[in-house]
Amino acid sequence: MSLFVTFEGPEGSGKSTQARYLKEYLQNAGYPAILTREPGGTPISDAVRRLVLDGQWTSMEPTTETLLFAAARAQLVGEVIMPYLNLGGIVVCDRYADSTYAYQGYGLGRNLTELREITRFATGGLQPDLTIYLDLPVDEGLSRKQRQRDETRELNQLALPLPHLPPPQPSQSEHWNRLDAREVAYHERVRNGYLEMIAADPDRWQVLDARVDREVLTTQIIAAIQPALATIKPL
Ligand SMILES: Nc1ncnc2c1ncn2[C@@H]1O[C@H](COP(=O)(O)OP(=O)(O)O)[C@@H](O)[C@H]1O
Ligand SMILES: [Mg+2]
Repeated sequence: MSLFVTFEGPEGSGKSTQARYLKEYLQNAGYPAILTREPGGTPISDAVRRLVLDGQWTSMEPTTETLLFAAARAQLVGEVIMPYLNLGGIVVCDRYADSTYAYQGYGLGRNLTELREITRFATGGLQPDLTIYLDLPVDEGLSRKQRQRDETRELNQLALPLPHLPPPQPSQSEHWNRLDAREVAYHERVRNGYLEMIAADPDRWQVLDARVDREVLTTQIIAAIQPALATIKPL
């Protein structure tokens, strides 16, 4: 048996932090586990990531955005996720298809039925066994992200005091991208969309309050994954 675990939630809720901690916990406990992220996780998908998140594309059509995410996902599933699951491993993924439904569906108003069809085409129908949803009020998440972006920018400026280099642009920041910059109402629609999906399919989701300390959250996530781990053979 294999296990496919995804992290979802609004910006700044701690998905990347907790996905990393979970992968480390699993590997230290002797399980075959890898961590990947969306969009990205393969060289081709990372190239698509740079394109789709770049703040200079202020007029990208929602359909274009949707198909780019689907393209990055198709490559990640084919090149990384499916092969590792077929070996009986655990794949931890920082965002997956639910992000499409939340962001392009509930956030941008794309038709959810069509999004499900595109996603099925891109993934061959692969669905997570377990999805950890880290919930955080939108304003708290966005201010965490902005803090993270500003700290990174200061670090970059310390590391690169070369006068002929332009300062890092907000559009190019790993921690503040084209989608983060959308209005608060959009992020509210995204969060409400997640809550609606969870209500419709409660068995797959584990909902956790992300306002607590990192360590507390990690302990809760590890507890939530234990039943699913019973089916995985340690290395
Ligand atoms: N439990 C937490 N409490 C406070 N700050 C946190 C917590 N978890 C993560 N952070 C900080 O919030 C910012 C966003 O975290 P990150 O894991 O990148 O979120 P996401 O991937 O969901 O956008 C980072 O600066 C991170 O250090
Ligand atoms: Mg992240």
